[in-house]
Amino acid sequence: MKYDFDRIIDRRGTDSVKWNIQGDEIPMWVADMDFETAPAVSQAIADRAAHPIYGYTMIPDEWYEAYIGWWMDRHNYAMKKEWLMFSTGIIPTISSCVRKLTTPNENVIIQTPVYHIFFNSILNNGARVLENRLVMGDGTYSMDFEDLEKKMSDPQTTLMILCNPHNPCGRIWSREELRKVASLADRYNVTVISDEIHCDITAPGYKYVPFGSVSEEARAVSITCISPTKTFNIAGIQTSAVCVPDPVKRHKVWRAINTDEVAEPSCFACTAAIAAFREGEDWLDSLRAYVYENRKFAEMFINKRIPEIKVIHGNATYLIWADIGGLSNDSTAFCREMRKEAGLYVSDGSVFGGDGSYIRVNIACPRDILTEGLLRLEKFAKQIRKKDRHV
Ligand SMILES: Cc1ncc(COP(=O)(O)O)c(C=O)c1O
Repeated sequence: MKYDFDRIIDRRGTDSVKWNIQGDEIPMWVADMDFETAPAVSQAIADRAAHPIYGYTMIPDEWYEAYIGWWMDRHNYAMKKEWLMFSTGIIPTISSCVRKLTTPNENVIIQTPVYHIFFNSILNNGARVLENRLVMGDGTYSMDFEDLEKKMSDPQTTLMILCNPHNPCGRIWSREELRKVASLADRYNVTVISDEIHCDITAPGYKYVPFGSVSEEARAVSITCISPTKTFNIAGIQTSAVCVPDPVKRHKVWRAINTDEVAEPSCFACTAAIAAFREGEDWLDSLRAYVYENRKFAEMFINKRIPEIKVIHGNATYLIWADIGGLSNDSTAFCREMRKEAGLYVSDGSVFGGDGSYIRVNIACPRDILTEGLLRLEKFAKQIRKKDRHV
């Protein structure tokens, strides 16, 4: 293989949040990958670092061109230059937008279980969380449109944060589903922030659908957050974009991110994004193939050897969302005990608004580490079985 995703890279000593662990613990929690980024990205950063003056930096035309080109070529969505603004991150944009676009105590809809930081972005900025819970049927989640309409039609509801594709369950929302969301949002005057940070890590043969592309209504109601950080494993660079076709909403978002001072790039932010979107395609397709093999391997392993755990199959992200209800109804205790007894550190599903019997496992690591992690999961499951106890 041209890129060596099997290579184990020691991340200790880099102040990695994920690897802030004890002893020989295996961290399979926070969403970054244990793979090196695309060679073009590290080269571009090294080239920029070689110039020893790191002053204030403007956003070059190439930055707009790189985003527009990538979304046109890979996602068949024609974004215009004037729709795009730089922001240091997706969460900074979302938090800013919540404060700017809602008045205190207005409702913001999220579709739980969902990326837990959405709760913080809403609550820390004086708004209320309104949960439109996803419904589980036939091994996969879908949206409850009846409930969504009820919640959107509440005059106190002004905003929705959509996760497209969805973290943690890995669903790629269909064009039809997204059209329905847009149509309801348009009818009830709700702005939709579409967080598309996971859009490029899909199983081979699967494509996500940009929310803003599905209809005129979607274009009018949407604020879309995009970035190369998950895709190319450069979260620490802090670089993203926000795309807002509607000029009135765009002005508000522009004021929001500038008031919060998150609209200016570091001297590496644009460089890294440009290199990723211009030259990272081949690397990304190899990465997707590797992550897909990891997913197949993990699903097979769990199905065969830990039948009490049910993996919810998804076609996007490098995260596995799994129902541990056969072993425990207290995911917090399960994760705490597993970390202590088996040295495996995964995310507790309850923080995403799960029902207390889910875990999220990050599988973006070399296969040997994944294998060791799964063996530890199995060992812990056996311990529970042997004691015939629920944690
Ligand atoms: C759905 C989602 N949105 C946003 C983020 C974080 O984005 P940023 O680092 O750009 O703030 C993550 C990180 O895991 C995520 O999963």
